[in-house]
Amino acid sequence: MWPSVLTVNELHEAAYILDLLDEVGSVSARPDGPSLDVGSKNGSNLPAFAAFAPGRWDLVEVDAHRRYLSLSTRRAHGERVARAFPGARYVAGSVLDLVGPYATITWILPFVDPVPHAAWGLPSRLYEPETLLTHVRDLLLPGGTLIVVNQGEAERDLQRSLFDQCKMRVRLVGKVRSPLTPFRRPRYAWRWDKPTSGVHSFHVDET
Ligand SMILES: C[S@@+](CC[C@H](N)C(=O)[O-])C[C@H]1O[C@@H](n2cnc3c(N)ncnc32)[C@H](O)[C@@H]1O
Repeated sequence: MWPSVLTVNELHEAAYILDLLDEVGSVSARPDGPSLDVGSKNGSNLPAFAAFAPGRWDLVEVDAHRRYLSLSTRRAHGERVARAFPGARYVAGSVLDLVGPYATITWILPFVDPVPHAAWGLPSRLYEPETLLTHVRDLLLPGGTLIVVNQGEAERDLQRSLFDQCKMRVRLVGKVRSPLTPFRRPRYAWRWDKPTSGVHSFHVDET
């Protein structure tokens, strides 16, 4: 049913996202609970997320009222995609407003650098990467999985520092190579399986 809710370009990007998530590894042993995607734009990657981790999904986007040339909004598109997946919700707001908890969280291209944040037209008061990461960390259920994807080496390195600041021992899965990618710049994936003890370790572990 992907073609019924996605444009051709969106469908190709969603297929790439599913391929990318597949490289990060399975979340089939996750605890019971819904999943969350942070910074979902117009929700067009939901079909990929739902194929990767079946169950209820929340999509949250702070810039949900951005309008297309068609005069439709990201939110309208996201709500239409969400209706095709039982229990899915498109939430127009900040992830900081969510209380969770979630069993799986995906975060594709978080703003870890103020330059792209401003280039996307967001006000500087919303640039608070450490606060966001701390909150997302705390939204995750013990035993749950956080997957973060960055674009380019510079953002990857900024992300590593953020994980350190948030005292998260996170595994760098590495450069994600997919023949389906529509993007030129390399992407890097991280995976954090939240300890069940609730203790965060201090080092970032690269493989
Ligand atoms: C670089 S874009 C990535 C969008 C999408 N995940 C993708 O892969 O194309 C980052 C997105 O995060 C959203 N965002 C930034 N701060 C947010 C917040 N506090 N809560 C929810 N979304 C946020 C932005 O509006 C933007 O749509």
